[in-house]
Amino acid sequence: SPGEPAPGLLQGKRVLVSAGGTREPLDPVRFLGNRSSGRQGTAMAAAALAAGARVTLVAANVERDVLCEAGLGAPGSAAGLEVVGVESALELRETMLQLAAEADIVVMAAAVADYRPASLAETKLKKQGDDGLTLQLVQNPDILRDLVAQRAAGTAPAGQRIVGFAAETGDEHGTVLEYGSAKLLRKGADFLVVNEVGAGRGFGTAENSVTLVAARDGSAEVIGERRGSKADVSQWVLSRVVTSGPSR
Ligand code: CTP
Ligand code: CA
Repeated sequence: SPGEPAPGLLQGKRVLVSAGGTREPLDPVRFLGNRSSGRQGTAMAAAALAAGARVTLVAANVERDVLCEAGLGAPGSAAGLEVVGVESALELRETMLQLAAEADIVVMAAAVADYRPASLAETKLKKQGDDGLTLQLVQNPDILRDLVAQRAAGTAPAGQRIVGFAAETGDEHGTVLEYGSAKLLRKGADFLVVNEVGAGRGFGTAENSVTLVAARDGSAEVIGERRGSKADVSQWVLSRVVTSGPSR
């Protein structure tokens, strides 16, 4: 089937995948976080390993059970795999930019917090009287865009492919695909895996339905659509990414 890469499709390739969700520290014991489990990213890492790649998984707050489910559990259990743990978006950014300098394929499957607390308290915040609390947030850097910029600056292997993920909902102003295509072009990545969320799709559901969009000559081109488990969808995405010729 077209979803199953031949074993060895990624032989000799180095694949870098981010997974999970970042935690943005507020004080030594508190953070702002999101519910991303890391299942999509771990499935991508497992699929890349199965296709023969050397894989580095940058895991932002991914539970051990989720790694185990994908067969990436015990340290050293999977040959060719390295797992690096990170917490915050800034930490994820630094780690990804450093490791991307030696990656043939970079996949941003992590849910990066769009904002972080403007300041990090050195000691645990205390309640003040009976009032509420207003938090000030600042925007986090766009890691995907920074990865593209780093490649453009020449600090990446020639022909590096950069892949993003986006969960979108359609509304009266645009369809899921229109929003996804605009996002792909805005960020400058080569591919975007667009996932429709809501109404029993996307988060937490076993079946996934994704559309893969590629950037070609300044416009977005639909490569195809795939419905299946996260493992199946991951295999399919990787096979399309390696076989859909260079976009630049
Ligand atoms: N991403 C990133 N850095 C960020 C935010 C997002 O690298 N600060 C990456 C995600 O890992 C994902 C892709 O960008 O691969 C799309 O994420 P998404 O949250 O949909 O994009 P945003 O630009 O944050 O747009 P939105 O306002 O819709 O959240
Ligand atoms: Ca976002």
